[in-house]
Amino acid sequence: AAAAVQAASVQAAAVPVKAAPKEVTVLFGSQTDNAKGLAKKFAKQLEEDGFITTLSAMSDYKTNNLKKTSNLLILVSTHGEGEPPDNAIAFHEFLHSKRAPELSSLNYSVLALGDLSYEFYCQTGKDFDKRLEELGANRIVPRQDCDVDFGEPAAEWMKAVLAALGESAPAAEAAAIAAVSEPASGQPEYSRSYPFQAEVLENLNLNGRGSDRETRHIELSLEGSNLSYEPGDSLGVFPENHPQLVDELIQYMGWKPGEEVEAGKNGALPLREALLRYYEITVLTKPLLEQIAKLAQSSGLNELLAPEHKQELRSYVEGRDLLDLVQDYSLKGAPAGEFVKALRKIPARLYSIASSSKAYPDEVHLTVRTVRYENGGRQRYGVCSVQLAERTQQGDKLPVFIQSNSNFKLPENPDTPVIMIGPGTGVAPFRAFLGEREETEAAGKTWLFYGDQHFFTDFLYQVEWQRWLESGVLTRMDVAFSRDTDKKVYVQHRMLEKARELYQWIQEGAAVYVCGDEKRMAHDVHNALAAILEQEGGLSPEEASEYLLNMQQQKRYQRDVY
Ligand code: 2AM
Repeated sequence: AAAAVQAASVQAAAVPVKAAPKEVTVLFGSQTDNAKGLAKKFAKQLEEDGFITTLSAMSDYKTNNLKKTSNLLILVSTHGEGEPPDNAIAFHEFLHSKRAPELSSLNYSVLALGDLSYEFYCQTGKDFDKRLEELGANRIVPRQDCDVDFGEPAAEWMKAVLAALGESAPAAEAAAIAAVSEPASGQPEYSRSYPFQAEVLENLNLNGRGSDRETRHIELSLEGSNLSYEPGDSLGVFPENHPQLVDELIQYMGWKPGEEVEAGKNGALPLREALLRYYEITVLTKPLLEQIAKLAQSSGLNELLAPEHKQELRSYVEGRDLLDLVQDYSLKGAPAGEFVKALRKIPARLYSIASSSKAYPDEVHLTVRTVRYENGGRQRYGVCSVQLAERTQQGDKLPVFIQSNSNFKLPENPDTPVIMIGPGTGVAPFRAFLGEREETEAAGKTWLFYGDQHFFTDFLYQVEWQRWLESGVLTRMDVAFSRDTDKKVYVQHRMLEKARELYQWIQEGAAVYVCGDEKRMAHDVHNALAAILEQEGGLSPEEASEYLLNMQQQKRYQRDVY
């Protein structure tokens, strides 16, 4: 069903306006559906205001229409180290190539989604904004960059866009404001800005005794929430900070835990509670450091922020938290009420859902690896994963929402073969995929590549894969346990060993899915796929990467990597 909106091209029918109605094209590039959701909402609004509106994913947009378009709105997120989302890659490349047309008759504006904790914040939006200007297009509203809490800034941008587009929009401003507020009546619609309190039904460690790792299998109840999801979607969980870190911070700063401070929609909260539940204290960003430097009048911190120390700043913030900062720069004594104003709201953590709702109605399952490490002589805890591992019991409630992901979906045709590559916790969505294929009695072949450190202690959900292999829901499974032998074996090695058959499956139209570590695994798996196409299909390196790009555009190669 999610794929149905992919190519959605919405045309307003007969529009009763005096002057010629204005045309607006809304293009989105979206990895996890946030930009897409906003684009759909804004396109609907534009239509209601009498604009002839075209809504399209960048990947479905015919670039020769650009010359005929007069108003273009771009909504795009940024992925990884400043890369475009998969469905924006080709359009991004086209615009930056020599083939891009001159666009002086085009009006445009960009809404960029991102995450301030990344260095290349909103980079793809910035790229589009800059490039369209270079091509001669006319920016009608300044680009709006949005952090994870994008609702309000996005609505502000839309309001400005509607004002700039002018006329055919009488009720425009009111509509823009209405777009962000909660539904006024009826049953509440749970979302990122209004999370559901989900009860914890189960919390197990999947790793055996003696493993280096701890991976939690968490089952949550969605009963009464009216929330639904599909395999490939993610669950957002709002975590709480570690009490020990909060207490050490309060103590070092000489603050009073009970002092009331502002905490956004919550109004005033006691400081300790606000630091536990509302503010992010584990990630350092440049804008945060800048505000704190001003507040605490720290010359040392100002020095670090100087342009010539860019590299030092980058390595300083890596793996450090607010306690490090205040200790390293002796920022004692800054008033709590002012200090917390510099902090951002704690963002939700997203986990790929590990269950099929058809197999487990009213439940959602997660596979979460506990993050613990030492740095600078202090034990560090992954905020959400350690909360789940150490401070979450059956019966507790967690604030959650569904984050749909139309870029990681089973093929619509149940007969299409599926190849799944998911080492470690990357296997989570494939438990959902296979559950779904079992429940719907899909006939297509399935092949799973899985890996982790040790067979005996780290084979997540081993019994379930075995059961699915026996029943035929899972056709093949290849595993790579990296630390059971002298030489490391990874999933991509297994893929290369099975190159011929993998190539055959791809020739038969199989869809390929990769989930898990982005920097190393997904990169190496991509190269393995290219190598298989070259070796078995006789393609040149250029043809192989073109082939994979094509598969990506056709949604036959989808990734959920982090
Ligand atoms: P390692 O920790 O022994 O290096 C799940 O985390 C599994 O992914 C582990 O077995 C881990 O192996 C492995 N892994 C690490 N780097 C990888 C890479 N570049 N490609 C594939 N798997 C990798």
